[in-house]
Amino acid sequence: MVHQSLKVGHAVCGRTAISDDTGRVFGGKPARLGYFPWQVRLRTYDGKVGGGALVSDGWILTAAHLFDGSRQTTVHGGIVNLQGLSPEKALPVEDAFLHPNYRPQADGSEPNFEHDVALVKLRARAKLGANLSPVCLPAAGETSPLRAGRLGYITGWGKTEVRDRPIFLQYAEVPVVGMDKCRGLDYRGKRPRFTDNMVCAGQPGTDSCQGDSGGPFVLRDLRHPSRHVVRGIVSFGPQQCGSYGVYTHVGRYLAWIVKTMREHGSWEDEETRA
Ligand code: ARG
Repeated sequence: MVHQSLKVGHAVCGRTAISDDTGRVFGGKPARLGYFPWQVRLRTYDGKVGGGALVSDGWILTAAHLFDGSRQTTVHGGIVNLQGLSPEKALPVEDAFLHPNYRPQADGSEPNFEHDVALVKLRARAKLGANLSPVCLPAAGETSPLRAGRLGYITGWGKTEVRDRPIFLQYAEVPVVGMDKCRGLDYRGKRPRFTDNMVCAGQPGTDSCQGDSGGPFVLRDLRHPSRHVVRGIVSFGPQQCGSYGVYTHVGRYLAWIVKTMREHGSWEDEETRA
């Protein structure tokens, strides 16, 4: 059996139709089709909702904590409007792979979102187009802390200041900030763990929130400014949204991501090529 060569770092990735509509979720605005064509919406078997990002035509990057129960999920992509979502339009899922070291509440009491990363494999390659296309993965070695002040987009159907479940995908631009900003927030007496595998981002008034988990935090590729790269995954934050949130540092997991996609990245319906 010859393995299918996997196009990690897709030839065309991270392209957005967003132009100058950037203003500067919580404090966000509704996205149009094609602005964030990698954004997908997940619903797990136990009814948890969140986001994810297409990283190839067959794989979605998301957060592990969405799968605390079952691995079964429903995925919708290529949409901004949740109204009229039908199960028939879902992208069929084959399996979900959680990071092997992800242990919620490692010591049995305090929240632990360390290694909050998962990959969802689609049962067949998705049909890509202007409204559905992958975001770029970080380059190998992009493991150092993200520079404070760098701006990126967060996206999701999570809670906003006016609705618990907005109908339209929301987006906002937020800066990377130092981890001390996230550490200093009120977690209602809980003491979550903070590590270098996490990124803190946000600003007063603009943040991700409940329901955005698993969704991407994308930064412009400095070398290819027309491309966006997924550098974070919405992971956790204080119950009270609206300041800073913690994101999984995707660059730290590139090796696991590539390995998982390689090991499990063939599709039954396709011919194996030499
Ligand atoms: N864990 C949340 C979710 O399940 C994400 C919360 C992010 N919170 C924040 N203040 N940024 O959707």
